[in-house]
Amino acid sequence: MSSDRQQARDGARRGDGQRPPVRVGVLFGGPSAEHEVSCASALGVARALTGDGYRVVAVGITRTGGLRLVPDAVLAGYLHGSGAERAIDDRLTVAGPTVELRAGRQRGTAVVTAVDAPGTAHAELDVVFPVLHGPYGEDGVVQGLLESLGVPYVGCGILASAVGMDKVAMKRALRAEGVPCTPHVSFDGQTYQATEDPEKLVVGLRRPLFVKPARMGSSIGISRVAEGDDLAEAIEEALRHDNLIIVEQGVTGRELECGVLGGARPEASAVGEVRVTGGWFDYQQKYLGDSDPMIVPAVLPDDVTERIQDLSIRAFAAIGGWGLARVDFLYDEAAGELYVNELNTMPGFTAHSMYPKVWAAAGVGYREIVDRLVALAFARHAQRPTGPQDPR
Ligand SMILES: Nc1ncnc2c1ncn2[C@@H]1O[C@H](COP(=O)(O)OP(=O)(O)O)[C@@H](O)[C@H]1O
Ligand SMILES: [Mg+2]
Repeated sequence: MSSDRQQARDGARRGDGQRPPVRVGVLFGGPSAEHEVSCASALGVARALTGDGYRVVAVGITRTGGLRLVPDAVLAGYLHGSGAERAIDDRLTVAGPTVELRAGRQRGTAVVTAVDAPGTAHAELDVVFPVLHGPYGEDGVVQGLLESLGVPYVGCGILASAVGMDKVAMKRALRAEGVPCTPHVSFDGQTYQATEDPEKLVVGLRRPLFVKPARMGSSIGISRVAEGDDLAEAIEEALRHDNLIIVEQGVTGRELECGVLGGARPEASAVGEVRVTGGWFDYQQKYLGDSDPMIVPAVLPDDVTERIQDLSIRAFAAIGGWGLARVDFLYDEAAGELYVNELNTMPGFTAHSMYPKVWAAAGVGYREIVDRLVALAFARHAQRPTGPQDPR
């Protein structure tokens, strides 16, 4: 590798015309329910990376898991078309040739090659930005693929991604580090089937309860169970999405969110609030509601904001985070209690998403976030132990 490219990769700084651009593979779409959100997030990232210092290679993952290279002209159409972020559909991930991702000839690079016509769709990547939400992309699966290729990638590694996706493992990690989370129990489908009375599984928890599949997102499979509601029905609904179930005691209060950005010494952003209507933040309100529920920055006493920022960094450290995460809180204002509800290791990343908004409120713009994330990807890669296997 040329020392110039090495420098560009190490620094990942824009604005220096002397260096070759850093070739960033933006990986998006995927089989999760958050396919469209991922497409919208990826366009935001691609737009921020376009021009100075970077070359974007957009690789879409179809709903069935196939990889497609997005032709430059198609990408440009989306990037320059007005309102494109809101008008995304499947065309983005099915427009181009089917490709595969392999280890590049040069150590620490990956290569995109056409499956049908070898050599026709070919791009080298210095770093991959997996802008994928939910299972498969945010849970360590894609991170494992990228590790095995030996290419640097943005965001949390395999373990932090997997722990962040699994609400049971996540709460174990948080508790171990003294980060407060709601009282909860967990059990699997077999345990549920073997229990005559589901109430026995949730002894000690006060209603309302939140019954959730352990490894999902977007509020899919979650039910709020108040007095008089059918607990068994809620568990069976959650079991349709995962064999592992978590039941939490409900917190009545505000929903607050904080961004974390960094590596060994991560920083916390301003705090945002999601104004929830109808009792809880369900799929309908998340993706189908027409009013923007976000208030940034949240109106809070300084000491509460500081506690949230401190807990966010501790929660990030508890899962072994790297790069970024959005930490979501439940705040019981009357009791003065804060609970970490969950961490999202690849939060929504459109220009209208909470993560960029809470950073903007802290004086860090979208482009700076992306610059820092790419630099952090190289920094982690440089630290990783080199094992005996070499994918080349
Ligand atoms: N323990 C709880 N108390 C009160 N509300 C909750 C609780 N757990 C979840 N919720 C509500 O359900 C929503 C989705 O739950 P969450 O755990 O964030 O799942 P997801 O990963 O699908 O976003 C939250 O935004 C909140 O509105
Ligand atoms: Mg959530």
